[in-house]
Amino acid sequence: MTKVLVIRSSANGANSVSNKLIDSYLAALPAGSAVVQRDLDKHPVPHVTHQSLAGIGRQAPEGGAFAETRALQDEIIDEVFDADVLVIGLPLYNFGMPSTLKAWFDYVGRAGTTFQYTAEGPEGLVKGKKAIIAHARAGKYDDASGFPFAVPHLKSLLSFVGIDDVTVVTAEGMAFGPEAAEAAVSEATATIVALAH
Ligand SMILES: Cc1cc2nc3c(=O)[nH]c(=O)nc-3n(C[C@H](O)[C@H](O)[C@H](O)COP(=O)(O)O)c2cc1C
Repeated sequence: MTKVLVIRSSANGANSVSNKLIDSYLAALPAGSAVVQRDLDKHPVPHVTHQSLAGIGRQAPEGGAFAETRALQDEIIDEVFDADVLVIGLPLYNFGMPSTLKAWFDYVGRAGTTFQYTAEGPEGLVKGKKAIIAHARAGKYDDASGFPFAVPHLKSLLSFVGIDDVTVVTAEGMAFGPEAAEAAVSEATATIVALAH
């Protein structure tokens, strides 16, 4: 049984292209797949602040103000370790990822748990996972150029914790008129549905 963790980050609810791509993927999953969903728009993870920072470190101080942060981070990290496949919705916001998704990643990275530093450099500890990025954007870009930053940044973050098997499914040109948008969504939908089989 494949276990899928879905992370949604669009602020556009049911009209979101990345959410629609995710929905198509989920609808095409084989019966019996286990799906856990975290919608960062409906339930944003709090930004890390001076009040909470120690709660997400290698060793959090016991109890007090940090207990809640630590419990949330444990839950987030457990969800990642439990999954075989992570499906991450990635709307392009100001050439990067939504801040809600970045805030989630700030909880995923915990030294000694999801990554560690060795004499050879950092090592990701989240092994054997696949990730699918459901990406949507108004413009059209050449990802190989490194701009915009959302895809390379997200792939770097995934790689840092050990997830290198990443497939990016992109629906772009959403602002290029309804016909172009519909064609792009339909092509991306076919691609992501094929990944579910
Ligand atoms: C705050 C904000 C910033 C955006 N910045 C960009 C951008 O830099 N480049 C771009 O091509 N589209 C940008 N867009 C458009 C979105 O990427 C586009 O609407 C996409 O469909 C969003 O994904 P979603 O439909 O899953 O919400 C932006 C949208 C918002 C709301």
